[in-house]
Amino acid sequence: MFPHIEPYTIATLGELCLWRKECWPIRRILVAEHAGFCFGVRRAVDLAQAAAPARTLGPIIHNAQVVEQLSQSGVCVMDDVSQARPGETVIIRSHGVGREVIRRLEAAGAIVKDATCPFVSRIHDMAREASERGIPVIVVGEGAHPEVRGILGWAEVGYAANSPEEAQAIPPLDRALIVAQTTLMESRFETICEALRQRVAHPEIHKTICTATARRQGEAGRIAREVDAMLIVGSRNSSNTQKLRTLCAQYCPNTHLIESAAELRQEWFTTSKIIGITAGASTPDCIFKEVITSMNDIEKQVITPAEQEAEVSSQDDFASAFEKTLVQIRPGQTITGTVVQITDDEVCVNVGYKADGLVKKADLSSTDVKVGDEIEVEVVKVNDGEGNVILSQRNIVNRKNWDEIVAKYEAGEYITGVGKEAVKGGLLADVNGVRCFIPASHLSLRYVEKIGEFVGQEMTLKIIEVDKTKKRIVASRKEVLKEEEAAKKKEIWGKLEVGSIVKGTVRRLADFGAFVDIGGVDGLVHVTDLSWGRVKHPSDVVKPGDVIDVKILNVDPEKERISLSYKQTQPRPWTVAGEKYPVGSVVEGKVVRITTFGAFVELEPGLDGLVHISQCALTRIAKVEDAVNVGDVVRVKVLDVNTEAKRISLSIREVLEDEALDNVPAADDLGDDFAIPGEDA
Ligand code: F3S
Repeated sequence: MFPHIEPYTIATLGELCLWRKECWPIRRILVAEHAGFCFGVRRAVDLAQAAAPARTLGPIIHNAQVVEQLSQSGVCVMDDVSQARPGETVIIRSHGVGREVIRRLEAAGAIVKDATCPFVSRIHDMAREASERGIPVIVVGEGAHPEVRGILGWAEVGYAANSPEEAQAIPPLDRALIVAQTTLMESRFETICEALRQRVAHPEIHKTICTATARRQGEAGRIAREVDAMLIVGSRNSSNTQKLRTLCAQYCPNTHLIESAAELRQEWFTTSKIIGITAGASTPDCIFKEVITSMNDIEKQVITPAEQEAEVSSQDDFASAFEKTLVQIRPGQTITGTVVQITDDEVCVNVGYKADGLVKKADLSSTDVKVGDEIEVEVVKVNDGEGNVILSQRNIVNRKNWDEIVAKYEAGEYITGVGKEAVKGGLLADVNGVRCFIPASHLSLRYVEKIGEFVGQEMTLKIIEVDKTKKRIVASRKEVLKEEEAAKKKEIWGKLEVGSIVKGTVRRLADFGAFVDIGGVDGLVHVTDLSWGRVKHPSDVVKPGDVIDVKILNVDPEKERISLSYKQTQPRPWTVAGEKYPVGSVVEGKVVRITTFGAFVELEPGLDGLVHISQCALTRIAKVEDAVNVGDVVRVKVLDVNTEAKRISLSIREVLEDEALDNVPAADDLGDDFAIPGEDA
């Protein structure tokens, strides 16, 4: 950043105002904030100064003055790696070099001090890693530039493209890593990438344009739009300085590149009321300052003391008038601005304030922004310590979302959240960018063992507490589930119709019956309603999980009781007994009861027949137990079915007689010894 200049600086370091009457009729000079040495260049120069005596491989920067000063302090320039001598310190400049150069320096016994800019080193790493994966590297930039040559020096297969035509000349590739020369203009990078996409089937594009460069160029472009004359201070050999000139000339035809104050020409400014001034990354602050001071000195030679006196008050007037034209901003304020530059990490927004605002990508509500867009932003900080205004688009959205959430709370409406993080005692969820806490006991209707299971899950929630001061929301999923269950129950109860037959699932068994879920509510089938026959335990008829038809016998919404019958969905045994057990048929049954006059045999649940004592055996018996006992399974013949009286007469004896007869051998089988009386006669 350019150092403070008195007394012309108003409001910001970067803005310098002059108020003159004639001669050079300059009314105002806009000085770029992002001018002069960048971080990488300053680091390289400092490192070189500290390493003396040493030699730099090529001039440390494109500035003869600095190179000369360094040489006086013992840091000279080495033109070629072949000149390296054993034991001498060789400094790699901020542009960086390929790995082969470093290998050769080390092989020559030189002590290598690497001043490659960290941003450039990062691109070297990317190129090396891509090569290890067998992927060619394409650098968008000037192929002859040392930085581009250095990057390609880390690639196995590499190309440079500085125009769409050069891009078209690259052979078709399946994959390629595409990076940018750090000082490239963003628009140029996009254009060349467009052409490269037609040559590379699967490009891996990294916009490695240095943010310092992007800011410098963005700011220079904005200043050039505003001014009548634009000065670029820097070396004509410097690529980034030349790019600044090209960029500014697009907006201000009266743009001039000068290497020092000696090159200033009065005629450039004869009709200029506002002059912009910036400097390339390799321009020392002293040269930049000298240019501005020279402009001032020339003016002082032609104005009278009275005019100088008048000038002071005019400066004050101008300063205050200028201040008035600036937008006043305060933290928390929502303002509208225009996007003037987009980098990988942030968006630069002109809000009419004396400094532009920066919105971090994470603070954008949508990344779908382009230069020229008008966006609404909230001021987070008026000055972040480096003169930048910090803005946020997300804060506005979050505020709107907060208001919506509070409105929903007041209206008793549900919200939707996504589980983000399991914390002590519950879960943090994100509701449209607003954090809310769900206590563990409110996560489910039942106890939740693993809260982490809800991370990433979308949930419908009911807000149970809002702290507007602390912007805290406490929500419950359990309340939603409870209300949903209650609503479902209400709907089901409303649909229950006594006498209707519905499907249900046996949930659990008790000694007195079976509980059956009939679509959200449980009803009871009493043990006596499970079967037409006698049932000792419900498990004799059904088991949990069985899906059965049940008849609704009674509904009591007050007590939430539903009586069901399973047996009534089965045919009554007596109605079909006549057809099922015709007279004369022989069936199997189980002796279930014994009386003095006979034994009752169960043919099927709910259908018993009587075997009279006289029908229990082939011979006469004193008591029924002499022939059968309870639990015996016996074969019985149906003697009579009286469905009206619900009586069935059965006989064991007749079955035995029939079996005995069936066992009598036929006459032919008896042989000669057996004669039927009278047959011989
Ligand atoms: Fe480094 Fe960016 Fe300067 S890449 S050398 S900080 S322009």
